[in-house]
Amino acid sequence: MNVQTKHTADITDAEESLKVQETQSVVDSKAATDVAMSNTLLTPRFYTTDFDELDAIDVTPVREDWDHLIAQMVADPNKGHFKKNEDWDTVDWDNMEPTLKKEFIDFLISSCTAEFSGCVLYKEMKRRGNNEDITQLFQLMARDEARHAGFINDALREAGVAVNLGFLTQKKKYTYFRPKFIYYATYLSEKIGYARYITIFRHLEAHPEHRFHPIFKWFEEWCNDEFSHGEAFALLMKTDPKLTSGRNVLWIKFFLTAVYATMYIRDHQRPAFHKALGVDPDWYAHEVFTKTSELTKQIFPITLDIENPRWQAGLEKLQKANIDLDAARKEGGPLGFVKRLAAQARAGTAFAGLYFIPTKKHALPASTRMEPAY
Ligand SMILES: [Fe+2]
Ligand SMILES: [Fe+2]
Repeated sequence: MNVQTKHTADITDAEESLKVQETQSVVDSKAATDVAMSNTLLTPRFYTTDFDELDAIDVTPVREDWDHLIAQMVADPNKGHFKKNEDWDTVDWDNMEPTLKKEFIDFLISSCTAEFSGCVLYKEMKRRGNNEDITQLFQLMARDEARHAGFINDALREAGVAVNLGFLTQKKKYTYFRPKFIYYATYLSEKIGYARYITIFRHLEAHPEHRFHPIFKWFEEWCNDEFSHGEAFALLMKTDPKLTSGRNVLWIKFFLTAVYATMYIRDHQRPAFHKALGVDPDWYAHEVFTKTSELTKQIFPITLDIENPRWQAGLEKLQKANIDLDAARKEGGPLGFVKRLAAQARAGTAFAGLYFIPTKKHALPASTRMEPAY
């Protein structure tokens, strides 16, 4: 089959989808790939893990919910959805306000990298595993993430930008995480991804005049995919109660704090983007944290106390330290170095301050099963 005749939206195999995207990326945009290649605390990373341990999971304890979820994913309600159609309005990239354009492209590249990062991890698990339940799930999730990345790449290509996915796969650094950390981090990123997409989608439904790009119209189905992926990780964690009890609760708290704080800082780096959407980033963060906390009660025995006044104050401190850190890095030289250390220390203190806010504890429901409700 000629891969070029198919659109990524219709492809069910992640490998095939990536081949299509690579052939499309003929205009390799070095700047975009450089952004996607960068590895800082704030940029999306690529992960690798102990695939054998993952492969050994027995889903028998959650079989009923598992089969239900897999059946939903196999039915593939979003096949063909992630491509441009008559709803895709023309985007006037040339006349887009330059700061907005820069921030929006940065948003698209970082979203594409995050989608692609999921795709790479899931695809690898599918390739290495022998456990039919696990490989089937990961194949289905890789399929979805490949479509998401493909669609963002479609949008970027209109702006003359292309992320070279083949190059990224080979050259980007992979961070090793033990499987349990993959569960916490990936579960959270899927659920927060759902909360982010649906919050923007609902906001733009009420304020269509702020929809400055057509891609937001696709966010509803998009977030439903992320919702299912999150459900899958909740079930994986449910198979082993140790993962969500005892000392592991401290790890859960750490990942919740890190994921929320990273989102807050990243979003505050894009003021023009949020202004164009008509969204106050502080309101948006609070909204997304509230929804995510509500969702994670399905499997995590704690949620962060985001209503505690120390929470918002700590986030603001962390964000200010991060701005100074950035400035010190750019300044360079011995003085820049000293300033960098000082800013790093402040960021560390602010993060610790957030981490040590007492959590809210609650009992876990008997069944994790949830449907998208926002
Ligand atoms: Fe995705
Ligand atoms: Fe996902």
